[in-house]
Amino acid sequence: MKSKPRLVSGIQPTGKLHIGNYVGALKNFVALQDSGKYECFFFIADLHSMTEYFTPKEKIKQIEDVALSYLAAGLDPKKSTLFLQSDIPEHTELAWILNTITPFGELRRMTQFKDKSDTHPENINVGLFAYPVLMAADIILYDAHAVPVGEDQLQHTELTRTLARKFNARFGKTFHEPKPLLTEVPRLMSLDDPLKKMSKSRPAGCLFLDDSPDEIRNKIKRAVTDSGRDIVCDPVNKPAVSNLLLLYSSIAGIPISDLEKRYAEKGYAEFKADLAEIVVAALLPFQKKKKALKKNAVRKMLLAGGARAQKIAREKIKEVRKKTGIYT
Ligand code: AMP
Ligand code: TRP
Repeated sequence: MKSKPRLVSGIQPTGKLHIGNYVGALKNFVALQDSGKYECFFFIADLHSMTEYFTPKEKIKQIEDVALSYLAAGLDPKKSTLFLQSDIPEHTELAWILNTITPFGELRRMTQFKDKSDTHPENINVGLFAYPVLMAADIILYDAHAVPVGEDQLQHTELTRTLARKFNARFGKTFHEPKPLLTEVPRLMSLDDPLKKMSKSRPAGCLFLDDSPDEIRNKIKRAVTDSGRDIVCDPVNKPAVSNLLLLYSSIAGIPISDLEKRYAEKGYAEFKADLAEIVVAALLPFQKKKKALKKNAVRKMLLAGGARAQKIAREKIKEVRKKTGIYT
């Protein structure tokens, strides 16, 4: 039997997941897993998350939270390999080797690095700078063909392709060049400012996956809208309502054009009230499942996934060591 193409993605354990993470990434992870077309690897990018300020105790909770969110959203350890990045030291070993072929200038151009350096000038660490190199290692270590991510990660996946190509040119064909997979909502905007991406670093504009039904209703009610009263998708002139339409369409699985027709004669209040109920209903099963899951089963599950991932990682690193002439 021909083996399936591999798919790799990860989420950082840095705080509560929001609905942007869901419609841009997590929901797609589940759909791709269930499509049966890929051999799926989903991990928790704890080493990446150390580039931002954290406390050790809180980190363990955040890792457990992402693991439980993976399971509650529908990732299934029988269908996908779920693991913790730091359990596989091959990621950091490959990242070091890739560091040595990564041009400094390429990393300096990375928007995420520039954004995070601007928001946290007190913590511009070398890890933050080299972050995309570790991400490249996460991906090409498994010869991934596809990488489902949100739009903010495109620059990093492009660098991943560059590094795979560069390594291959210098040391002989070793890595596959992966392609990013985007959803229809690759960049959900903030509820309080439709010109800014919904982001954990700006909690006021986030709908969190763990928000209660009333919090969801209130946040959507308060979400900013545009001038005029038409409910149409026009991202340039009506960024706020377009963003809400995209969210509605993604969660309800209804094309935008149908929604525009449905709300043609209706006002924002009714549209927002319906959207809120759609989101509440979509998140309820997730929230119930997450509450019912046992935290103490998480470590064992991640170790089991890690053992599967490491077999592949170890073989690849052997090849890399041989190709680069590391004395073994
Ligand atoms: P992070 O929490 O930064 O690890 O992001 C996890 C995943 O969610 C990545 O694939 C991001 O690209 C994606 N993501 C984050 N914010 C958004 C957003 N506002 N819209 C769509 N996707 C997003
Ligand atoms: N950088 C990604 C983010 O912030 C997380 C991540 C780390 C990742 N390694 C990865 C995503 C490998 C996809 C593949 O969202």
